[in-house]
Amino acid sequence: MNRNRFSRREFIGLSAAAAGASLGLKTIVLDPDPLWALPQTMAASDRVRFGMIGIGMQGSGLLGNSIELPGVECVAACDLYDGRHTLAREIVRPNLPTTRRYLELLENKEIDCIVAAVPDHWHKQVVVDAVNAGKDIYIEKPMSHSAEDGVEMVAAAKKTGRIVQVGSQRVSSVICAKARELVAQGALGDLMLVEGSLGRNDPTGAWEYPPPTDLSPQTLDWDTWQGTVPKRQFDPLIFARWRCWKEYGTGVAGDLLVHLVSGMQYVLGINEAPTQAMAMGGILRWKDGRNMPDVHCTLFKYGEVPVYLRLSLGTEMPETYRFQGSKGILELTEFNLTYTPQAGVDTGPSYYASGFPKAMRDEYFKKWHQEHDAVPGKEPALGGVSYRSASWDDLKPHLWNFFQAVRTRKPVVEDAVFGHHAALACHMANQSYFRKGAVTWDEGSKTIKS
Ligand SMILES: NC(=O)c1ccc[n+]([C@@H]2O[C@H](COP(=O)([O-])OP(=O)(O)OC[C@H]3O[C@@H](n4cnc5c(N)ncnc54)[C@H](O)[C@@H]3O)[C@@H](O)[C@H]2O)c1
Repeated sequence: MNRNRFSRREFIGLSAAAAGASLGLKTIVLDPDPLWALPQTMAASDRVRFGMIGIGMQGSGLLGNSIELPGVECVAACDLYDGRHTLAREIVRPNLPTTRRYLELLENKEIDCIVAAVPDHWHKQVVVDAVNAGKDIYIEKPMSHSAEDGVEMVAAAKKTGRIVQVGSQRVSSVICAKARELVAQGALGDLMLVEGSLGRNDPTGAWEYPPPTDLSPQTLDWDTWQGTVPKRQFDPLIFARWRCWKEYGTGVAGDLLVHLVSGMQYVLGINEAPTQAMAMGGILRWKDGRNMPDVHCTLFKYGEVPVYLRLSLGTEMPETYRFQGSKGILELTEFNLTYTPQAGVDTGPSYYASGFPKAMRDEYFKKWHQEHDAVPGKEPALGGVSYRSASWDDLKPHLWNFFQAVRTRKPVVEDAVFGHHAALACHMANQSYFRKGAVTWDEGSKTIKS
């Protein structure tokens, strides 16, 4: 991260937005592009036909949102669990073709692209197979299950030239877009520190999901579901709660931290892995047999700048970021962005002068006021500005960005390289936790080193 990028720019855009802000914080409501504003009819040749892989908790939402987009059509759906074939037909249409074999979707010439929401341990294989079959793909976050998987996925995307959009939809939110604009205008001055946190405090938030009631080795292809992980006996809890185990999931890092990291990369306009990560945490609350921490705090280094991100499944905390710079603070919460500028200069004589003898102190005070006092009526207004959004509503815009890229061959907002960098931060956070020490990313060997 190049800190000087910020210092060279004067922040000029704020004055208009903050006009009158000295009277209080001005709030501006941001409107995401509404669906009704999109083109409602689409020539047959412009239609995008996709195949859906994985129709679980997230996939069902992706499927429902995608088919509401103009000119976007679901041709077929795939899942290893038959209950989700029923669900896909309920969402799309009763005669939607469904299968347990995703390779059938990749071989289907009617399908232009894939939307995939399978557990993390399947991401690499699905993406590599899809791009090699000539299909563009929207893959859920975190892009990869390991650093090694990510390297292979980036190479496959580059080799084939197919479009890969990673599903950390935060980067498509109007709040992040406004924050990015402010940062690009120099609102922060020199970036000093980024901090962020997110917490939950309930069993569902901690991934203790109820398995589908008819799940059995007859209704689910359990053997394939396990992928390359050493095989275990059929276990409905693993099927529903795979996030709890490192063999399938990526912990709170891959599940939640990745959203903070992707959003941060986007807001700051950076696309790189952290150079260093140091994590601490533990299984403090949910002692249910999981092997991933439920409290996980990581201190990263991006260039020279520390980034401190804290995740907890033990205490509810709003999703919050604070981007701290020499010219102010940008705070992002779920629906708000607040910019509070800071002058970064003394606003009165230095209190150190209280240690001067009277004559010296009086002289210093007099000189200071002569040199610094503002002309009456022309005092600078250092007001802040706040932006509010009706919602993050980022999922539809993120999917739309993907389908538009498939149509136009223009780049997506979150390609494989961007997704790889965000995922690397998560893998480094996990590796530091398990290795109990700082880790670095070595670009030469493309490995995480202790
Ligand atoms: N972007 C977000 O906000 C967000 C939110 C939740 C989940 N996710 C991500 O979405 C992905 C899926 O999560 P989920 O909660 O929906 O999981 P889930 O377990 O509810 O659903 C996954 C589905 O994939 C199917 N599946 C697994 N392997 C398959 C294969 N080889 N072929 C076909 N189907 C296969 C499973 O049978 C299951 O139905 C994860 O990567 C997760 O991190 C993203």
